Parts: sequence; structure tokens; C-alpha cells
Amino acid sequence: MILGAMIFYPGGEHLASWRLPGAQPERYLDVGYYRDFARTAERGGFATLFIADELYVWDRFASGIDHVVNIRTEPFTLLGALSQVSEQIGLAATVSTTYNEPYHVARKLASLDFLSSGRAGWNVVTSASDEEAWNFGRDANLDHAVRYRRAAEFIDVVNGLWDSWDDDAFRYDKESGYFADASKLHRLDHRGEFFTVRGPLNIARPPQGRPVLFQAGASEAGRALAGATAEAVFTLDGGGIRGAQALYDDYKRRAAANGRNPDHLKVLPALSPIVGETQREADEYLDLIESLTPDRLSLDWLSHYLHFDVSSHPMDEKFQPDLSVPTNQVKSVYEQIRRVVGEGTFTLREVNRAMLRRRFLAGTPDRIADWMTERFTGGAADGFMLAFSSIPVGVEQFVELVVPELRKRGVYTGEYRGATHRENLGLPEPSSRYA
Ligand SMILES: Cc1cc2nc3c(=O)[nH]c(=O)nc-3n(C[C@H](O)[C@H](O)[C@H](O)COP(=O)(O)O)c2cc1C
Repeated sequence: MILGAMIFYPGGEHLASWRLPGAQPERYLDVGYYRDFARTAERGGFATLFIADELYVWDRFASGIDHVVNIRTEPFTLLGALSQVSEQIGLAATVSTTYNEPYHVARKLASLDFLSSGRAGWNVVTSASDEEAWNFGRDANLDHAVRYRRAAEFIDVVNGLWDSWDDDAFRYDKESGYFADASKLHRLDHRGEFFTVRGPLNIARPPQGRPVLFQAGASEAGRALAGATAEAVFTLDGGGIRGAQALYDDYKRRAAANGRNPDHLKVLPALSPIVGETQREADEYLDLIESLTPDRLSLDWLSHYLHFDVSSHPMDEKFQPDLSVPTNQVKSVYEQIRRVVGEGTFTLREVNRAMLRRRFLAGTPDRIADWMTERFTGGAADGFMLAFSSIPVGVEQFVELVVPELRKRGVYTGEYRGATHRENLGLPEPSSRYA
């Protein structure tokens, strides 16, 4: 079983996580906070530390500023620092292919791979919010299909740039004065729909050949891209094991259809555990999260994902919106809300609560380990991307209490099997296209 540890909001997975007991909001821009997280995750044998990212402050609604953690360090700068204070864990962060240029990204990732001795990774996202568009010269986000075409070309260019130098291109020969061998340098000369990149890249081929490529797109276009290019996907399976198995099979089938070994596309459902000594204690923690979330924030969060304003709707009255029009934003979250709303007649508060209960798995260490084991052995997951409800408490509890249970069940060793991120994920090292 592969485990990853992610940070979306610095305080944990929920908008209100920063208010939970043990949260340390004054440390969210402090490298020591992330160093501690990395070291705890390493104690648990986690293959990947993943920093999620967005390129905006969530100010569409005033509640976003009042109540939400809108500050974060630029993730690759942070990972550069973490590469020096961690030893084994893979270091990955989100890259928007809509608001970056491939040359920048290829260079940054290759640098991190050198700084960390082969532990770099990137999570390709296409960026869904208009707020992001407004920071990069656009009035609105690009169309979903265009974003994904751009992402595919982006990945192709980055992979090409990483192959600029053959592994034995450098001679460092002081005597003759030859630093490098020009015959071992390759110019990309890429001209496509979105990018024109001559190359070559001004850094050697990364230690891993290519830093590990993660993705989390859930739509048809997102899955198609993952099947063609991703080495690990983070999924949101929406609940039952059957759905998770179907999703797992879908990704594996897509990899095979692209002529790839399906085992080289790892499927890692996102999992947000809440660990309690008893089931009751875990459930009460969920109630606590709910009680720490102001109503106006819950309403605005729903408005954001539904892309229409629900804030004037009373929390305790029936909520039955028309959700038949597809969104240009995050389709998967929209779909989840649509499913909840379609399951019966609910008030807004009840819809909110149902979404909260779907997002977290609350239970004893035993129950959480059983749940994970069932999915892992039942062909529904190669591992999990853990999004803790609170940091640092959630990750510490998981490592102390759940990891031993997983070990006991023989599904997780908790040990690093190799030196590089790829080796620890069970992925092969790609050779250069010129090899
Ligand atoms: C575990 C996980 C992590 C994600 N991290 C990010 C992120 O850091 N930044 C981002 O913009 N989107 C992130 N997403 C959203 C996805 O990249 C994707 O946009 C979303 O699932 C919608 O899918 P679609 O683009 O195929 O419609 C994440 C999703 C999941 C499940």
C-alpha cells in the first residue's frame, strides 16, 4: 500500500481546520511547521508529501476573507527548503498548466529533483476558478476542454525539455577545456497549439529522468489525460467501494489503452481520516468541525461550487436547485453536490452535513485500517492520499495509531523500499527519448 500525505489548506482539509484544538495558525508561513509535518510523515513511511496549491485569494465572498486561510507559501520554494530537512519522503506540489510556461516548470522541477536527490514530483492541474484567471490577464477561465488540451501539450513539452541533455553529456574536462559534449545536447524545437519552445533546458536531465507526474482530474478530459500521461492519480470516489472499484478499473483500462503498463498508473483515492479512541469520539469531532464553520461560510462554499448564489437561502429550509446545467468549474465537486441533492429532500444544512460526512472517514484506528485494507485488497486502490482534518494533530494520530494497524494487517510495511520518489511508489525510471 502506498501512502501520501497532503496539505491543501495549511491547517488541514476543512475550511475551519485552523480553529481546531492543536492547530497552529500563526506558523502557517514558518518552514519549521512543514519540516515537522515532513518528519512525522517520514516516520510513517509515507512515499509522498504533496502540497496542493491555488493561485488566488478566495475573495468572491466576504466570508472567504473573514474566515478562510488564504495565505500559503509558494510550494516549490517550500519544497526546496524541505529537501534539506527531510531524508526520504517524495516532495510534490501542484502546478497549474493554465497559468505557467513549460520552460519555467521543467527547470523548477529538475532543480528540485537535484536538490532532493531524486525525490521531486508534480501534480498537474488545469485550474478551475475565475479568480485565478483574473490574476493572469483573463476575464474568465479558459474553457474546460481548452484547458485540458493545453495541459496535454504542456506535459509533452516539459518531458521533452527534461531530455535536453544526455546523461553522459558532461565531461568537466579542465585539461581540454570541454565542459560538455555538444553532440549530446538536444534542441526540442516544439511548435504546437499553445507553446513554441526551442529549448534546450539549462539544467541536466533530472536524477529520476522525470520527476513523478501526479494528476487529479475527474472529468472525462481529466481521466483521458491521466490515462495517457499520469503516473499516479488522486481520486474522489464519492463513497461506496463499488464506485471506487469502477473508478480504479477505469484508470487502469485507460492506461492499458494507451499502451502503458496499468501498474505504472497508481490510483490513490483521497482519504480524510478522523481518528477517535471510540467511534463516538470520532463522530463528535466531526460535529465540532461543523460547529466551527460559520453558516455564511458554508453557504458561500456551496455557492462557489454550484456557481450560483445560494446565500439568501435559509439554512433550515428545503433546498432543491436546478442542477441540470453543467459547470465550467470543478465538475467533480458539483457532481457530488448534485448526487446529495438528488437523494432526497433536504435543507441546506442537511446538504452541508451530508457533504461533510462524505468528505471524512470518522472512526477508530481499527475501523479506518479495515476500511483502507478492504479497498486495497479489493481492487479499489493502490494506496491513499491522506488529507488530514487537522494538522499537526491528524497526521501524528494517524502515524501513531493507524499505521501500526495497517502493519498488523500485512498491507503496509511503513518502510522505504528505495532512495527515489519513483522507487518508493513502485514506478520505473523512464529513459530519455534519445537513448
Ligand atoms: C486529492 C486532490 C488534490 C487536488 N489538488 C488540487 C490543487 O492543488 N489545485 C487545484 O487547482 N486543484 C486540485 N484538485 C482538483 C483537481 O485537479 C481537478 O481540477 C478536479 O478534481 C476537477 O476535475 P476536472 O478538472 O477533471 O473537472 C485536487 C483534487 C483532488 C482529489
